[in-house]
Amino acid sequence: MDLKKYVTIVPDWPKPGIQFKDITTLMDNGEAYKYATDKIVEYAREREIDLIVGPEARGFIIGCPVAYSLGIGFAPVRKEGKLPREVVRVEYGLEYGKDVLTIHRDAIKPGQRVLITDDLLATGGTIEATIKLVEELGGVVAGIAFLIELSYLDGRTKLDGYDILTLMKY
Ligand code: PRP
Repeated sequence: MDLKKYVTIVPDWPKPGIQFKDITTLMDNGEAYKYATDKIVEYAREREIDLIVGPEARGFIIGCPVAYSLGIGFAPVRKEGKLPREVVRVEYGLEYGKDVLTIHRDAIKPGQRVLITDDLLATGGTIEATIKLVEELGGVVAGIAFLIELSYLDGRTKLDGYDILTLMKY
C-alpha cells in the first residue's frame, strides 16, 4: 500500500513556507491505519519488544494500537505537569527556547526492551529526549518507529546507532 496517498500536505501551515504533513487522513482510513500499524507490529515482533513508549500526543496514536495488538503495555511520555506521580524529566531544545518531557519513574523495569513510537521524525529532538528518559530508567531502546521521516532535516544523525523504522520519507 502506498501510504503517502493518505497523508495530506497542507501548504503554509502552521506558518508560511511549512508544508505540513497531516496524518489525520491516514488515521481516519481504517485500512491505511491498520496497514501502518501492522507494519510496526511486525517490526516490534522481530525485536522482541516488551513495552511501547510514545511522546504526546501523536506518539500515542501510533503506539497504542501496536501495544494492543502485541498484548504488551504502553507508557506515555508527557509534557511537564501532566503525570500525577513521581517522574524523571529531561529538557530538550526547540527551535526557540526549550521544553520538558517526563515519564513515570516506575513505568519501565530495568532491562525491558522498549519500542519508541511517534508520527514524525523532524529534527529528532523529541525522540532524543525520549531515549534519555527510557535509558535513565534502565530500559533498552530496541527500536524506534515513525510513520514519517523528514530526511532533509537530518534528525537521524541525533539517533545514530539506534534501530529505526520509518514507513514514509519526504
Ligand atoms: C511533533 C511530532 C513529533 C515532533 C517531531 O510533535 O508529533 O513528536 O513534533 O519533531 P522533532 O523531531 O523536531 O522533535 P509536537 O511537539 O508538535 O507535539 P504534539 O504531538 O503534542 O502536537
